[in-house]
Amino acid sequence: MSQDDDKKIAALAAADEVKAGMLVGMGTGSTAAFLIDELGRRFAQGLRFRAVVTSLASERQAQGLGIPVLPFSDVAHIDLAIDGADEIDPQLRAIKGAGGAMLREKCVAASAARMVVIADGSKTVAMLGAAPVPCETLPFAQSFVEGALTELGARVVLRTKDGAPYRTDQDNLIFDCHFGAIADPGALAASLSSIPGMVGHGLFIDEIDGLYLAKNGSVTLKERPVAS
Ligand code: A5P
Repeated sequence: MSQDDDKKIAALAAADEVKAGMLVGMGTGSTAAFLIDELGRRFAQGLRFRAVVTSLASERQAQGLGIPVLPFSDVAHIDLAIDGADEIDPQLRAIKGAGGAMLREKCVAASAARMVVIADGSKTVAMLGAAPVPCETLPFAQSFVEGALTELGARVVLRTKDGAPYRTDQDNLIFDCHFGAIADPGALAASLSSIPGMVGHGLFIDEIDGLYLAKNGSVTLKERPVAS
């Protein structure tokens, strides 16, 4: 079984949560692409649902498969969001945004009655932080935000693509912030959220309700532990 096989198995398992009449949030990335393909197949077979998407890439894919996509600007609540992750810990806290879509992904996740992550075994970690935390920044505030992120202890790297600064779907910049092991993800998320000019970051603290994790061809569903 390859990593891609596991991504697909996780996506197919989560697709079973999509029921007729639902409004579904579709994520971004290679694992979410398997999900969108599968939901396109199910739509073609007669399952009727509508979607909102978290990136222009996912929008193109969903529309290409004939899935009705609503503008998220018109939507306050959705039934279910399904998305990938870069790292996820035992408390279902995650780092997202390697694909640059974490701002829209977080808006859609926050609007969802339920959000599940789909992942292969390489994404689970005991402690978040081996992956950088992507921080989406207004170009206007680039230098200020870079300084503030450095003060928080990060090694800050401006994301580039083809030799130029990477631009998000909102035309913003991304700083990939290497913090190393993150002892208190909630506190770090709060600090990041308080930086003016930083419009979103990839730390997901309490948005994720369930994790479909596929390892060596078999998938398990883990639900968020109940807060004590
Ligand atoms: C997109 O910005 C990300 O949050 C993705 O969901 C995440 O990077 C996982 O992507 P893969 O499924 O391609 O690993």
